[in-house]
Parts: sequence; C-alpha cells; structure tokens
Amino acid sequence: MSKTVLVSGGAGFIGSHVTVELVQAGYDVVIADNMSNCDETNYKGVCAILGRELPFVKMDFCDAKAVRDLFAKYPIDAVIHFAAFKAVGESVAEPLKYYGNNLGSFINVLEAARAKEGGCNVLFSSSATVYGEPEQQPVTEQSPRQSATSPYGNTKQMCEDILRDSVKAYPGLKGIALRYFNPIGAHPSALIGELPRGVPNNLVPYITQTAIGKRECLSIFGDDYPTPDGTGQRDYIDIVDLAKAHVAAVTRMLDGKMKAGYEIFNVGTGRPCSVLELVKAFEKVNGLKLNYRITARRPGDIAAIWADPSYANAELGWKAERSVEDTLASAWAWEKHIAGKE
Ligand code: UD1
Repeated sequence: MSKTVLVSGGAGFIGSHVTVELVQAGYDVVIADNMSNCDETNYKGVCAILGRELPFVKMDFCDAKAVRDLFAKYPIDAVIHFAAFKAVGESVAEPLKYYGNNLGSFINVLEAARAKEGGCNVLFSSSATVYGEPEQQPVTEQSPRQSATSPYGNTKQMCEDILRDSVKAYPGLKGIALRYFNPIGAHPSALIGELPRGVPNNLVPYITQTAIGKRECLSIFGDDYPTPDGTGQRDYIDIVDLAKAHVAAVTRMLDGKMKAGYEIFNVGTGRPCSVLELVKAFEKVNGLKLNYRITARRPGDIAAIWADPSYANAELGWKAERSVEDTLASAWAWEKHIAGKE
C-alpha cells in the first residue's frame, strides 16, 4: 500500500514542486494550505502536470483543531512542513506575526504527529540562513549556527530545535531538517513556479521580471565584497533538484534508514555562483540583455555562502543534477508563462 505524505504549504513555490516529485515517486499526497501567500496557480499546475486532482484542504496550521481533524481524516505517514512566512524584512517589522505563525503552526503539526498511533515522520524546511556569515566555506552540517539576524531566521533555528527536542522526547516521532541554500527556477513544464507578491526580494524573480519589462532595472547589491568579482556568492539550487531531495529524505524516514531520530542535511550544489555570474548566465542561455546597475550593498546581506552537500549525496543518494543554465531557462519560461496569463 502506498504511503501518504501531508504537504503543508503545498500550494506554494517549493511545496508544489515537492508534491509533483512525491506523486511521481509513488506517494499519495494530501496538500493543505491557507492560501495566505499564494493563489491557485500552482495547485492547478500540479494537477495539470500529474493529470489528476489531488486532495486539497484549505486550512490554517495555527488552528490546532483543524490540524488534529486533518490527521484523523487521512492516514498520514509523513509530513513535510512548508507552511510559514518567509519575508526577512517583514519579519523584522512584524516579529510577533512571524513567531506566532511559524512556531505555532509547527507545534500544532508536531502535537498531531506525536499523538498518531504507529508514529509519524516530520520533515522541516530549514534554511542555510541558520549558518549566518560562515567563517569557512563550504559549510557542512557541523558548521556552527550563528545567532539569527532576523526573526525569520530565528524561527528556522527555533523550529530545528523544537523538532530535535520533540524527537528526543516522544517515541515514534522522527525528524529531518533540510537546510536549503538558494532555491531557484521552475518546473520544466513551466506550469508551476515562484509567484512573488509585489516587488520581489529574491534575485532570480527580480531578474525575470526585469527581463519581461515589469521592473525597469535590476540593482546588484554591492560589488565590493571580498569575492572574485566583488558581488555576493550563493549556492543556487534548482527547484526540481531540491524537490527530489525531499523525496529521498521522506523515503529514508519511511524505510527506517535513519541513523538517528533527528537528522540534518544541507541541500545545495556545492558550487558558488556570484550575482554577476548568474546575470551573465541568464543573458547567455536566454539570448537577451538585462538592464542592471551596481548599487549599494543591501543591509543584512552576507558576502558568500555555499554548501558542502557531500553528506546528503552519500546518505540520501541524492545529488543536484540540473545545470544553472537549464534552471535559468526554466525560470524565464515560467515568467513568460505567467505573463501570458495576465
Ligand atoms: C534570502 C534569505 C534566506 C532565504 C532566501 C530565500 C537571509 C539573509 N536571506 O537569501 O534566508 O532562505 O532568501 O530564497 O535571510 N541580490 C541583488 N539584487 C536583488 C536581489 C538580490 O543583487 O535585487 C543579491 C543579494 O545581495 C545576494 C544574492 O543576490 O547576494 C541573492 O539574494 P536573494 O535571492 O535575496 O537570497 P539571499 O539573500 O541569499
């Protein structure tokens, strides 16, 4: 009998891609989302890619009863928890909104998971932001976490700790935290992708919106970092590759292959890429010129971070495969797809 995975926040950017990969790997998926930060585009795209409707529950994970009811209705073997707020700047302005939502929803998931007969597996969507400004590159899972510079980053650290402590305390509960580097791109079908509201904070949606004419000019935040070309370096991970890491991690949990009740994996490519390199690659693969200028550094940005993904490669049997060019081509195809619908 196939196993059931609950994807909280499954109508969002990462959740929708993970849903597609899970179903294609043979899992039954239940999507639950309060739709507070997205519309139905990605859910419809997921159904179009898979050629069928999936169970979808509109609900808020801060509602403990709704979460308990969900667990009573479906035979949930594993949960992947994406339902959270994610804007760094907004979290500084409205910390209680972030602590209330991101911690409250996760605690409700863990309460329901630990109460489930036969146990339950929980995968938490964490971030490389927990490493702060690393002293050594690339970062491994053993690299020290640093105190968070935003409430958003703090909720990632706190949720990791809540998961670790819960797994220790409650028999039957198992957990994995995946620390994502910079997820970019879209599904090759161009039917699902990132849908930022308002002016994008992240680099790739800003690039594609500039290329299509929604934004006048991309600002490159600083060219005086101690990096080879002076612009910031990150580890840009393709969204479909990232989604496949979730399938590998869920399968590891469900197959009883974990080496400890709580495990952490970096999900990145291991390759640093600067802002300028990314812009050039985007121009080249899509055959266009991007309007950009160098501006001041963005407060809070770090110079560089990239992953050592060898632990995930070895233990999950997973590796990032898509080239940054293919990923940037998919991001552009997605931007054109949504522009055509507007
Ligand atoms: C940010 C968050 C991270 C979150 C991630 C989601 C921090 C410090 N960062 O990462 O937690 O998980 O988004 O994807 O918490 N850039 C420009 N111009 C732009 C936008 C960005 O030059 O218009 C540069 C930035 O300075 C940086 C790089 O592009 O060097 C990537 O920026 P961005 O996409 O915003 O991601 P991060 O800040 O790395």
